[in-house]
Amino acid sequence: MQISLKSYKDVAAIRSDCLILTTDAKLSDSAAKKIDDACGGALSKIIKRGEFAAKLGDTAYLPVCDGIKADRILLIGTGEAATLSPADFDKMVTAGIRALNQSRCQDACWVSEGLDVADKEDRWQWQRLAQLLELASYRYTKTLSKPKPPMTLKRLSIAASNNAANKAAVAHGSAIAKGTNVAKELGNLPANICTPSYLATQARALGRRFENTSVTVLDEKKMQQLGMGSLLSVSAGSDQPAKLIVIEYNGGKKGDAPHALVGKGITFDTGGISLKPGAKMDEMKYDMCGAASVIGTMEAICQIAPKVNVVAVVAAAENMPSGRATKPGDVVTSMSGQTIEVLNTDAEGRLVLCDALTYVGKYKPASTIDIATLTGACVVALGKHAAGLFSNDDSFAAELLAAGQTAQDRAWHMPLWDDYQPQLDSNFADIANIGGPEAGSVTAACFLSRFTKDQRWAHLDIAGAAWNGGANKGATGRPVALLCQYLLSKAS
Ligand code: BES
Ligand code: MN
Ligand code: ZN
Repeated sequence: MQISLKSYKDVAAIRSDCLILTTDAKLSDSAAKKIDDACGGALSKIIKRGEFAAKLGDTAYLPVCDGIKADRILLIGTGEAATLSPADFDKMVTAGIRALNQSRCQDACWVSEGLDVADKEDRWQWQRLAQLLELASYRYTKTLSKPKPPMTLKRLSIAASNNAANKAAVAHGSAIAKGTNVAKELGNLPANICTPSYLATQARALGRRFENTSVTVLDEKKMQQLGMGSLLSVSAGSDQPAKLIVIEYNGGKKGDAPHALVGKGITFDTGGISLKPGAKMDEMKYDMCGAASVIGTMEAICQIAPKVNVVAVVAAAENMPSGRATKPGDVVTSMSGQTIEVLNTDAEGRLVLCDALTYVGKYKPASTIDIATLTGACVVALGKHAAGLFSNDDSFAAELLAAGQTAQDRAWHMPLWDDYQPQLDSNFADIANIGGPEAGSVTAACFLSRFTKDQRWAHLDIAGAAWNGGANKGATGRPVALLCQYLLSKAS
């Protein structure tokens, strides 16, 4: 999608396949008013007749008339409120995009002169518009012999000054959406394509496309040498070798501590010997969505090129049962030296993450965030609307909550109290990999906390947020927006 900014003098003189106007029923928006005047009150007429009520998200096409240069006019209702909430703005834009998709126009011009979004400057609207449009252009095509046609719209111009701040807003919105789409695509790909080796190949390709970015992939032999017995216990039953993928982006000063991202990349989770039931097991191809969000975030960050250092680690493995698979009761030794009793081979995410977290510790990160589709319990607790946020530092948690709020990609703070830790006691190892039926998402986070004691660390459980089921089944690309928002706030 090509998105540009263009100032204009006379809205009636704008040449475009489609002029998009936002308005309430009173034509408070001055551009809408001018168009109404230019075409002899045609707009007031359809409002008066009740054909267009201008409620939030209502859309209608205004028939062409002589007074204007655009081929058609798309009206989007803003409702009666003088100020929209960010969520209302999204709802309105989404309705507009849906209507645009029905007209087959290739370019459009967005003109809104009176729209106010609570606590946001105008450029926030341009960023969000760019982001939503780019997100809407995503189509899954890879394994379809008759894919859905791409979006007809190719270019959007936004009627606003082409100054540096506005340009940056549009660029950020587009880049974040492109990163989100990368995460969606990796999530949606089936597990027979998207293997740990495939993720490594994608990461290497990303490294080649951008300056300041380098990618290293550790194979099983190297991980063995580093003592990653926990991570390797997960891939033991699979014919697909595990990969530890490291992406370093150096946009900041040399020597500045990087911010670290760590993604759970289980490319398929059968549960292993603790085999999952068959229903919906296909959805466990999404068990690498944490990794996908990390790679998507790096895509966006590389495109935006902020002055910050970031190190991203993806722990990629496939969890399969076989004669070589890890068995319940097996004890493995993690890179940290702590021994782990694997009471349930389906609690594998924490087993790959703990070694990846220990590994990233050697970078002495300024902050560390791991992202994982870690527990069904988190879906029970929060559903799909919020990611579960756990942290060993309340001020860090507050920063991430705020980033999620701003990016409209929200998380919810969950407890990580010591009271829960004894649930992980084991008679045969330093720690058990499950903590019983109570507070499953909390004990999973408690497990990870044993490996991040010396880091400013947070864990995002995205088991509910990472994909949608039902008719719109597909990956959401969350929480790329939250992560980008946070990392950009760290740029100097
Ligand atoms: N990947 C799953 C968690 C999951 C399940 C995410 C369903 C989204 C939807 C994870 O590896 C897992 O199996 N967790 C177990 C942990 C349990 C054995 C302690 C779970 O949640 O049941
Ligand atoms: Mn599992
Ligand atoms: Zn899993």
